[in-house]
Amino acid sequence: MNIFEKKSRIIINCPLRAVPFLREEVSELGFNIKSESQTHVEIFGSMQDVMFLNLSLRTAHRVLFYLDQFYAKNPDELYRNFKKITWEDYLFQDSYFSVSSAVSHPTINDTRFPNIKCKDAIVDRMREIYGKRPDSGSERKGAMIYFYWMENHCEVFFDTSGVSLSKRNYRKIPYLAPMQESLAATTLLAANWNGEGNFINPMCGSGTLAIEAALIALKKAPGLLKDNFAFMHLKGYDERIWRKIRSEVKTQSVNNFKGKIIASDISLEAINAAKQNAKTAGVDLLIEFSQCDFRETIIPDGSGIVFFNPEYGERLGEEKELEEVYESIGDFFKQKCTGYMGYVFTGNFNLAKKIGLKTKRKIPFFNGSIDCRLLEYELYSGTKKIYH
Ligand SMILES: C[S@@+](CC[C@H](N)C(=O)[O-])C[C@H]1O[C@@H](n2cnc3c(N)ncnc32)[C@H](O)[C@@H]1O
Repeated sequence: MNIFEKKSRIIINCPLRAVPFLREEVSELGFNIKSESQTHVEIFGSMQDVMFLNLSLRTAHRVLFYLDQFYAKNPDELYRNFKKITWEDYLFQDSYFSVSSAVSHPTINDTRFPNIKCKDAIVDRMREIYGKRPDSGSERKGAMIYFYWMENHCEVFFDTSGVSLSKRNYRKIPYLAPMQESLAATTLLAANWNGEGNFINPMCGSGTLAIEAALIALKKAPGLLKDNFAFMHLKGYDERIWRKIRSEVKTQSVNNFKGKIIASDISLEAINAAKQNAKTAGVDLLIEFSQCDFRETIIPDGSGIVFFNPEYGERLGEEKELEEVYESIGDFFKQKCTGYMGYVFTGNFNLAKKIGLKTKRKIPFFNGSIDCRLLEYELYSGTKKIYH
């Protein structure tokens, strides 16, 4: 059975609270959503669709291609059912593969254990057939098998992405508290950024928001920056089809856009990291970088977005120091950003109040396990400060 010639359920995963944006992205790419949960949307499609999705998606973490399902009451039954799957149809004799899972089962305390059981089942079956065992480990560099095991029900998938799609491959230099690339893109889509107008990112750190803003403005698919996906390591993968899909996706991007993207930070080290990361992403010539205090950032005449991701002050004492910073962000919005939409992404709601402006929307996100908000401010000439 050639998996590249069949259609199947496709599950696309994302972090909690990102589903509304993933749903919209997947629909805009032309797919019908069959169902969704708090952390995924499901569609039906082929491995060609999988290639297209891995290239195109900005808000997702991984694309799973359904393979099989069965009941398993305990780890031995899990092993036996896993061993019945014809892995030799999908994996090469000398494949490197890894197994990961989402497990909630009364017999399991350590989720590494069922992964090892399933890895053993695959290795044992392949060794019985070929007289040689394939290589496996935790590195996400080869084929990837993913399974859900909940309440005795097990569903098996190929994880076609490998390394999470949230890692775009351009952020070689992270600097302080960088935003995950997919989270940055999701907040930009939440802010309705589409490349029209200007995008100003004071406190840019390693440049993630400005780089993702440039990629969106260029309609450049983030997967074009990656050269290894897990589907490439499955039997039946045809590089010519991949190249065709890749070049079709590539032709959809544009060379330039009307507005300006400006990224600034007080730290020279951050600016140097951001420049280098933007260069790796191929967008350095489209971003104006400057090292300055955020209060000195030049806001061009016109309209667009001014987007801050300040520190949250997670350690004791830091919050007090940051109060003045958040107050000044409010003053900066009010005094210098008339005509723009202002955004602040933060995980500290006490500090957020110090901005002192009326929010138009508060969009909930998680940054890892931190409860965060993207705060939206409409900055018109009469914008007034409110004091708490
Ligand atoms: C949370 S980090 C931003 C991370 C960024 N979004 C990323 O993905 O890399 C906050 C940044 O604000 C910068 N910063 C702190 N105080 C500043 C100030 N007064 N003016 C400008 N930048 C400042 C820090 O140097 C740091 O890079």
